[in-house]
Amino acid sequence: MNTVELIRKKRDGKALDEKEIDFIISSYTKNKIPDYQFSAFLMAAFLKGMNKEETSALTEAMLYSGLVIDLKSIPGSKIDKHSTGGVGDKTSLILAPVAAAAGINVPMISGRGLGHTGGTLDKLESIPGFRTDLNLSEYKTVIKKCGAVLIGQTKDIAPADKLIYSLRDVTATVESIPLITASIMSKKLAEGIDGLVLDVKTGSGAFMKKQKDSELLATSLIETAKSFDKKVIAFITDMNQPLGNYIGNWLEVFESIKVLRGEVKGDLLNLSTALSGAMIYLGGKATSIKEGIEISNELIKNGKAFEKFVEIVKYQGGDIKAIENPEKYPKAKYVESVYSNEEGYLAGMDNYAIGVAALELGAGRKTKEDKIDPKAGIILNIKIGDYIKKGEVIAEIHSSSKAGISSAKEKLINILEFDSNPVKKSKLIKKVIE
Ligand code: URA
Repeated sequence: MNTVELIRKKRDGKALDEKEIDFIISSYTKNKIPDYQFSAFLMAAFLKGMNKEETSALTEAMLYSGLVIDLKSIPGSKIDKHSTGGVGDKTSLILAPVAAAAGINVPMISGRGLGHTGGTLDKLESIPGFRTDLNLSEYKTVIKKCGAVLIGQTKDIAPADKLIYSLRDVTATVESIPLITASIMSKKLAEGIDGLVLDVKTGSGAFMKKQKDSELLATSLIETAKSFDKKVIAFITDMNQPLGNYIGNWLEVFESIKVLRGEVKGDLLNLSTALSGAMIYLGGKATSIKEGIEISNELIKNGKAFEKFVEIVKYQGGDIKAIENPEKYPKAKYVESVYSNEEGYLAGMDNYAIGVAALELGAGRKTKEDKIDPKAGIILNIKIGDYIKKGEVIAEIHSSSKAGISSAKEKLINILEFDSNPVKKSKLIKKVIE
């Protein structure tokens, strides 16, 4: 096959067949196509799009560029969740133990923070000793023994995605539905799952700002999962404000513990149990999502979900004293309150800017080499629709530097929008697509 002809075919808006897609992906992964030619292919795919069959073939080629884990020897359903990422999105830390406590196996390969969004691995690594770099045999042992395991992408899992993602990042070809679909699904399908629950975010703190685009992405992910015979449900959920109140790695672990101990109600609990409810339903332990949610709430109430979280942390080398007594975890050097200088109903906020403010405090990375500060972050006490008085504490900033505190304070004050008339609360779950 001729690479230039394949690029030309895609450039002219024609569909590539399975063999052509496999050729171009395997050649690039084996270093037989230079970056400049593969970049041209990516841009052609970005501009002309790819149909359902091409997206599936792309996913398959990327999936089989590496190892596909076989978990058939482990009895029971294996169901995972994938979120497209957001600010304060820590549901994995809650739903993995909840679903595992309900008898579902949760094999989870997660990512690090990306841009203004946090990553499950960085959050888990704020627990002293917690290992996210388990090898394949440890991965299988942990899932067999405790029903859930949370690790990072290894070099054997979808290596084509690793290579292609770095090139997309520097060739302005990230925001493409078929390319995002193949990237996400190639990693998820490699985990050895039977089914997947998708949380596709929409709003100012999400990669997809418009609900229409989030729905298109969800549909593409669903079609691709189905073409691999996987059970799948997608939720379209709100990311116009942080999920829960805590943003930052250890802070998010702490908030997840509070939810798992049954101490916190609200959006974070509701979304986590909706997603775990769908996982329990897909895994055959409930007859509907609604029943799955009831089971999830019961497992939180009777302490079994928190017990399971402690078990996961123990199996992955984490210090269980830290999660059993999270109040004793050392705090950031500076912790300061932010007061509102306006009065009225909170009408909206720039959630992307909140993610960036947390990142700049050290909760995320500006360059690949940056080190995360696990204690840094923001506790935002307010939600859209709340009435806020002048002088009321709206947030708490945690930072290792005074300068960080002042800069984050200024940012937070400037990104809130107020209205003198009552404002409707944002709808958390906008749509469920089965
Ligand atoms: N997350 C991924 O894993 N891949 C993408 O392309 C975008 C988000």
